[in-house]
Amino acid sequence: MSIRHYLQFKDFTADEYGYLLQRAAFIKAKFKAVERYQPFADPDRTLAMIFEKASTRTRVSFEAGMYQMGGSVVHLTTGDSQLGRAEPIEDSARVISRMVDIVMIRTFGQDKIEKFAEYSRVPVINGLTNEFHPCQILADLFTLTEYRPAPSGNPLDALKGKVVAWVGDGNNMANTWLQAAEILGFKVHISTPRGYEVNPALAGISSSDCYQVFDNPMDACRGADLVTTDVWTSMGYEAENEARKQAFADWCVNEAMMAVAKADALFMHCLPAHRGEEVSAEVIDGPQSVVWDEAENRMHVQKALMEYLLLGKLA
Ligand code: CP
Ligand code: NVA
Repeated sequence: MSIRHYLQFKDFTADEYGYLLQRAAFIKAKFKAVERYQPFADPDRTLAMIFEKASTRTRVSFEAGMYQMGGSVVHLTTGDSQLGRAEPIEDSARVISRMVDIVMIRTFGQDKIEKFAEYSRVPVINGLTNEFHPCQILADLFTLTEYRPAPSGNPLDALKGKVVAWVGDGNNMANTWLQAAEILGFKVHISTPRGYEVNPALAGISSSDCYQVFDNPMDACRGADLVTTDVWTSMGYEAENEARKQAFADWCVNEAMMAVAKADALFMHCLPAHRGEEVSAEVIDGPQSVVWDEAENRMHVQKALMEYLLLGKLA
């Protein structure tokens, strides 16, 4: 198999997502049954994780997932490697990819991860950039298919036609939701404050059919199958924090918003969350919230993703 990278959601087709979602369920079932599943044990496979921004979930899910699959991990940050001392990305990519089998990168501009991939001998996974967070959306979709499976048992059928309400910043998560909606046939109802809208060109979607914009977040939530949000200030935008607090004050997912969504609507948040800002404590800690399963599912979907990138389709 020629090298594949996972740099944005649209790098894979709907068929590939159908496979990955089913594979994640298979791998998760093994984990829950405390059954050893180690496709990366012989020959040993190594994952390099490069973090230029902070992380809890991404680090733990990739690291634990890789060890559970029989492989090992190298953890690098800007502060403890030559990456922070201006070694060219091309050189870092050439060197690191001669010693490991797969690389995960969390960084700032998407251009950086694309450049790394261009010079890498091994698959590269986007662990979050300013523009995209595909591993998170993969976990969110998997969680949605677990909670609301289709009668056919096909996860793609479970997603088709769904309405996802996005309340908040037109950020990396919002962009990735739009790509997923375009590929998988669901709709995003998006409400952002003025000045924080999604940019369809930056989101990398080919038409505006997959989303609808609402000025009022209540309207975006009306009839939604899933309501989701994210921090008002993403990593790298901290200087805008005070201005954002003012602009986003009405974009807090609260019980009134959940009440106009479908009666069985779910709430998701990629985390970390700020209760009282983008979401009320009643909602994130309430009965419709599935955020803990969502976070755990990062590990299961990423195991399926790494298996697919390294070993191809196995079933
Ligand atoms: N959701 C997510 O990516 O969390 P971390 O920033 O903790 O990795
Ligand atoms: N949009 C957030 C997601 C954190 C997981 C950020 O980029 O900081």
